[in-house]
Amino acid sequence: MKKYTSLNDIKNLSDTVQKAIQLKENPYQFTDLGQHKTLVLLFFNASLRTRLSTEKAAKNLGMEVSVLNITNAWNMEFEDGTVMNLSTSEHIKEAAMVISQYADMIAVRAFPTLKDKEKDTSEIVLNSFIKYATVPVINMESATDHPLQALADAITITETKKVDKPKVVLSWAPHPKALPHSVANAFVHLMHNMDVEFVITHPKGYELDSEITKHFPVEYNQEKAFENADFIYAKNWSSFNDYGKILNEDPNWMITKEKLGNAKFMHCLPIRRNVVAEDAVLDGENSLVIEQANNRTFAAQIVLKEILKTMS
Ligand code: CP
Repeated sequence: MKKYTSLNDIKNLSDTVQKAIQLKENPYQFTDLGQHKTLVLLFFNASLRTRLSTEKAAKNLGMEVSVLNITNAWNMEFEDGTVMNLSTSEHIKEAAMVISQYADMIAVRAFPTLKDKEKDTSEIVLNSFIKYATVPVINMESATDHPLQALADAITITETKKVDKPKVVLSWAPHPKALPHSVANAFVHLMHNMDVEFVITHPKGYELDSEITKHFPVEYNQEKAFENADFIYAKNWSSFNDYGKILNEDPNWMITKEKLGNAKFMHCLPIRRNVVAEDAVLDGENSLVIEQANNRTFAAQIVLKEILKTMS
């Protein structure tokens, strides 16, 4: 693996998931692989899980880790040909090339604006790092994707499924803030690569990018979508068509214990209790959210390991 910016960078998903599960059983078996290698983590946005799990994964492989919150660095310019006499102080061209001298890999988190659809879908921040960095780039959640989360979710489903082809439902849930589409998109990418019966449910107006959802069915009746579900993955996202807007805050879309039934509950976290899902769901025995977060470490570790292997 030369980089990890989307799930497409994984050639064989089920093989990679099995390798991640083996790492989970013995995380310190490759501590020599990352010796004298440095991972630089760049955060344009907040994080708890991604930051700590990626750092832990790197350290499990013997790597050094440097973390930079971009709010503490110079304000970065991404457009070409700009006369930089306003608020930006450093161009991505210099920044990426300089960071590449300090890093053997660069991991980037950069959320969408949710205001400029064209700019967000072009993945200007992530793609600029890919273009100008001279070392492998890892996506720690970009404007439209979150492939490390998707890989962790693949591990979690593989570990907990009770049938060969489970029914998996991605359900929109209410939220007071406009949120990105990245996690939902990443989960849909994953579903294209797993042997599952997959249904998406959301209120009208919340259709995801049809280039990503392709042929997957959308059921606008949440109760009907949940029938016989093995896994219910809850997530809020803002409207894609009416870009970045909140069209609906209907609390009836919250996941309740009654709606969940015997299905396992998944969410990437952080989650707003009693808005996205009620306490009884998160505190119940069917919740997988803590294990999903645990699997973030082994998702990151298998990705780092596969990239490190190409360097040795
Ligand atoms: N799920 C996830 O990416 O969590 P953080 O935003 O806390 O990193």
